[in-house]
Formats: sequence, structure tokens, C-alpha cells
Amino acid sequence: MRLRSFGLTLLIFVLILTSAACSSGKTDAKPAAGSGEKYTFKLAHITPTDHMWHKAAEKFKEELDKRSGGRMQLEIYPASQLGTEADMVQQISSGSVDFGFITAAYMSSRAPAFTAWFAPYAFKDLEETNAARDTEIAKKILGTLDSQGIKGLDYVFAGNRVMLFKDKEVKKPEDMKGLAFRVTPSPPLQDFYKSMGASPESLPLPEVYAAIQTGVIDGMDMDLDATITNKYYEVAKYGAVTNHMVWPAVAMMNKAKYDKMSDADKKIIDESIKAAADYSAKTRASQEEEFKKTLSDKGMKIYEIDQKLFEPYIKQFDEKYSSTDPLIKEFMDTFRK
Ligand code: BEZ
Repeated sequence: MRLRSFGLTLLIFVLILTSAACSSGKTDAKPAAGSGEKYTFKLAHITPTDHMWHKAAEKFKEELDKRSGGRMQLEIYPASQLGTEADMVQQISSGSVDFGFITAAYMSSRAPAFTAWFAPYAFKDLEETNAARDTEIAKKILGTLDSQGIKGLDYVFAGNRVMLFKDKEVKKPEDMKGLAFRVTPSPPLQDFYKSMGASPESLPLPEVYAAIQTGVIDGMDMDLDATITNKYYEVAKYGAVTNHMVWPAVAMMNKAKYDKMSDADKKIIDESIKAAADYSAKTRASQEEEFKKTLSDKGMKIYEIDQKLFEPYIKQFDEKYSSTDPLIKEFMDTFRK
């Protein structure tokens, strides 16, 4: 009898222990956050793997993995592997690709409000530019992508625009007169150079090196990062670090997929992209002097041109574009001091 009661007590004890172990196991198995759904996303962009936009994509991947407890994985397709930016946006809009970091320059041809970002000399430096991501107007501009089946998530900045010249030291805007100058195929950027008398050549990034090497173009509008990663220092002697325009990538996602996600998963996406964009702008801002030195060490003459000399061309730009779209006007009213 005593033995039976001991056996019963032991059984109850074992059952209590097992149930405690099971419930703690369940807790451990729970995903860190979100719905529990697993995702393998694709992200496409055009830059080589040593450019800051690619590093920002890797940071985004890392943040998604960490914040979702491993449920959100990201495959990155860099260096135009999935085609031109037009192809990539088409793929994002149809849902065959989930995410893209696409130049605002290209996006301005599909959603004109993105032109606002190319207002020359709108920001003092990269820190000020990065802070502009958080404004109402920056978010309204992203919102104009809704009608294209695209969710505009954020902006990724990796340095401002500079001017590279094959063999002429341009010291003032008027020296640009008659130069065949590569400008990314985007009307606001092209207009800025036309107003100074240059002849803009619409060359996509992969064709630029050969064009300047062979003398098809005399110079180019570029960023310092791509000047290094694409080795333009080998074919351009002069670099005017004008920082005359900012250069955002628009971080975007297929809208239907975003809308279908739980609020907790949307939050993971939003916060991961924010972390990646902050990382990009902060890292890049800290590299400015190092990049200039690298280019000088490679043999380029690196110099500045006084912003005041560009005033008439800035005014012309603002007058033309502020009347084309209410969001561009709002942007200029917000940031022109
Ligand atoms: C360009 O077309 O100039 C460019 C595009 C992406 C990153 C850097 C430069």
C-alpha cells in the first residue's frame, strides 16, 4: 500500500516536471517577433559589391535575420544582375523581386516628385541630408509610388555628386561650356548641366569607363564612392568635389507583399531598412576625407569650386521645377533656407 502511494506521488512529480519542461520548450521555440511566417526575399540593385549601397543591402539582410529570429532571409542581386533599373522596378512592381535599391534619378522618370531631391545644394552635408529622410515631405514623395504597386520604404544615401574631368581643370560653371559630359539619364540632372552650357550625354553606369577612356565624353557627374569602386581615377585627371546634389537610392518593396504582412512583420521590415539607411549615411559621411585622399594618392587632382558660382544655375533649377509639381514646391519650401 505504502509502495503504491509512493508510486503515485512519483508519477505526479514526473508529470509536473514534464509539463514544465514542455511549456518552457514551447516558449523557446517561438520566433523572436512577428507572425511566425518564413520568408526568403530577393533584393536587386545596380552597384558593384564594394559600393556602399551593396553594403547597406548586406546590413539590411543582417538586420532582417536578427530582428525576425531567422525567419526573414534575403538574397541580394547586385551589379545589375537582374537587368537595368527599369527591369528591376518592373520586377518589383510585379512581385517577382521583393525589394530594390533604385536610384531616385531613375525613379524621377516614373514618379516626378523624386526630382525634388536633385535641387542643387539643398543640404549642407550628408548628416543634414540623412535627417531629411524623416520629414513629412520625404515620406509623401515615397507615397507617390503606391499607384505603381510599390511601397516606398526609405532612402539610402551614399555620398553626394561630384564632377570628374578627363583632362581639363574646370574652375567655374562656365568652363563646362561645350564639354561632352556624362550625366545619368534623368531630366533634372541633365537640365542643370545644360544650363551651364555642357552637352549632357545619357550614359548608364556600365558604359561610362570606356566612354571617358576613349574620349567620347570629357567628364562625368558621379559620386566619390563609385569613382573609387569603378576606378574612374584611371581615366579622369581632375575631380571637383562640389557635392552639388544628393544621391538617394529609393528603398522599395512590392506593395502587395508588404500590405499582406502582419503589423509586427511590417515593423521588422521598416526598422531593418531604417537601420541599414542610417548605417549607410553615417559610414559614408565618415569616409569623405579618406576617399578624397585615396583619389589624390591615385594621381587625381582633387579640388573644390565655390558654391556661390553656381547661384544663377540653382535659381534657374528652382524656378523651373518648383512649378512642375506641388510636392517639389513643398520640398523646396521645406529645405531652402
Ligand atoms: C550613376 O549612375 O552615376 C550611379 C548609379 C548608382 C550609384 C552610383 C552612381
